[in-house]
Amino acid sequence: MQQEETGQVITLILIKLGGSVLTDKAVPFSFDEKVTKRLSIEMKNFSDQIIVVHGGGSFGHPGAERYGLNTDKPREVPKATAEVRNDMRRMNQKIIDILIDEGIDAVSMPGGLVTRYSDGELISLDQKVFTDHLALGTTPVTFGDVALDEKRGVTICSGDDIMYGLAQLADMAVFVTNVDGIFKNGSLVEVFTEDMLPLTVNDIHSKKETIDVTGSMERKIELMLDMSEHCETYVVNGLKPGRLRSLIENKDTLCTRVER
Ligand code: IPE
Repeated sequence: MQQEETGQVITLILIKLGGSVLTDKAVPFSFDEKVTKRLSIEMKNFSDQIIVVHGGGSFGHPGAERYGLNTDKPREVPKATAEVRNDMRRMNQKIIDILIDEGIDAVSMPGGLVTRYSDGELISLDQKVFTDHLALGTTPVTFGDVALDEKRGVTICSGDDIMYGLAQLADMAVFVTNVDGIFKNGSLVEVFTEDMLPLTVNDIHSKKETIDVTGSMERKIELMLDMSEHCETYVVNGLKPGRLRSLIENKDTLCTRVER
């Protein structure tokens, strides 16, 4: 949280638009323009600062899997890096175009250029490049990408890693997904705490047939639990109109809050 000269408090909200909301992960290069546009409208004319993070969905995961970019031995590194980076930039361009059309001054900040990895683990993220762009009044839009890795050459930088790397700056972090929140024993949980782990298979609402190279629901929840020590952390359904907007306006809406 920052204090402006006027005494007004500025809040920073991180919003991750999951790949499963913006694309159909089962259909390569599918992109849901309508949903992206509606979510853009839900984020616009908002008084607080926002950083948008988006995932790879049907653009990022197939290439990443094809070249083993999530493994310790990525294959055909130059080609893989060029292709998967290009696929992600194509997706990002679609999102940036929609955000700008809606009047949001969105600026693209590829995840692979602001992060460093070692053996698949995020070791640094340039927070200053984000705060400097926020200070300009722009809305940074960053995304899952191919990043440099000092042991492997390259690795996958997920949007979730970027959320984690930015959490210290934020007041609120919102994971926009295609489900209502986190489920335990079949019921939606309002506040998810560490003692509710592990989840059962029935609680994990992900389509088995789709490719997701960046890991399990439990890994994501561990990361959210860590983030919750820095900022309020939520999971919300982006396919249901109005929920994201209500959440960032602090109005009651169906979602899960994650708290250590
Ligand atoms: C994946 O990012 C990026 C690539 C595969 C290049 P994420 O892991 O954040 O993507 P989603 O949200 O699961 O699709």
